[in-house]
Amino acid sequence: MSRIAVVTGGNKGIGFAIVKGLSKQFDGIVYLTARNTELGNAAVEELKNTGHHVKFHQLDVTDDTSVEIFKKYIIDTHGGIDILVNNAAIAFKTTATEPFEVQAAETIRVNYFGLLRVSKALFPLLKPHARVVQISSSAGHLVQIPGTDLKAQFSDPGLTEAQLTQLMNQFVEAAKTGSHKAAGWPNSAYMASKVGVSALTRIQQRELDADPREDIAVNSVHPGYVDTDMTSHKGPLTPDRGAEAPIYLALLPKDTQIKGKYVWHDKTLVDWVKDELPAPY
Ligand SMILES: NC(=O)c1ccc[n+]([C@@H]2O[C@H](COP(=O)([O-])OP(=O)(O)OC[C@H]3O[C@@H](n4cnc5c(N)ncnc54)[C@H](OP(=O)(O)O)[C@@H]3O)[C@@H](O)[C@H]2O)c1
Repeated sequence: MSRIAVVTGGNKGIGFAIVKGLSKQFDGIVYLTARNTELGNAAVEELKNTGHHVKFHQLDVTDDTSVEIFKKYIIDTHGGIDILVNNAAIAFKTTATEPFEVQAAETIRVNYFGLLRVSKALFPLLKPHARVVQISSSAGHLVQIPGTDLKAQFSDPGLTEAQLTQLMNQFVEAAKTGSHKAAGWPNSAYMASKVGVSALTRIQQRELDADPREDIAVNSVHPGYVDTDMTSHKGPLTPDRGAEAPIYLALLPKDTQIKGKYVWHDKTLVDWVKDELPAPY
């Protein structure tokens, strides 16, 4: 049985670089998934031309049917997953004209609920020793939450997925009335969504620690400030460099102690609750 790696949003940027790097370093089949079939197939072709062997499957993280079709395909074809990299995300540009409430709803829908949907669908397929990498951001560090009470809720070691989802929905609701800042939220939907991703990672690891499947690790990572479409190519790091920490986490050895952590692009572990934001990023 082949070992299987899956990367979401793999057609470009950091996701594409993660697929490329994994295809060199991982002894198994790497699935480059993308919401757009044409873009996904073109990305796979580009890798084939350079000697990398990867496969494409359509996967839109916001679409229940797409996620279910992919899940069934993996079950029928391979039975399980060894590496899952939840990379797909969006960020509105600072020049975007959509009202804040629209940006908030859409960003949380894709970055938090999309990642949660894929996790809920595919976690049952994770094999013992599987590695999950949740692509967060420096924007996903707890320090980005100004409100003391809200911070305490996010960092509560007993926070449940249902409670976290409720917090994400509260942000979307508060954004509708413009009351999010008064309620302790940052004035950034992207930050709120990525804090959600890193908080979710901690919850997921706690749940997997109690799972009969042995030694499954879930970590969230800030890939660095990277030259991609998302940053309008302002980031100083190359996508390959941005892929380094995610690939390191995807390939953590058996019985690693690095579980449920928030990891910086230089692979250092950052205490999500107690540490300051490291610099530079
Ligand atoms: N670049 C940075 O400096 C930086 C810093 C910190 C964190 N990050 C994080 O790193 C990850 C990759 O970012 P990037 O800079 O490579 O961004 P990017 O170049 O904009 O690529 C984002 C990828 O996500 C895909 N995507 C968006 N919505 C999707 C959906 N509903 N279903 C499936 N795929 C979807 C995009 O597909 P389409 O091509 O179809 O749009 C694209 O493949 C993101 O999680 C981002 O938040 C980036």
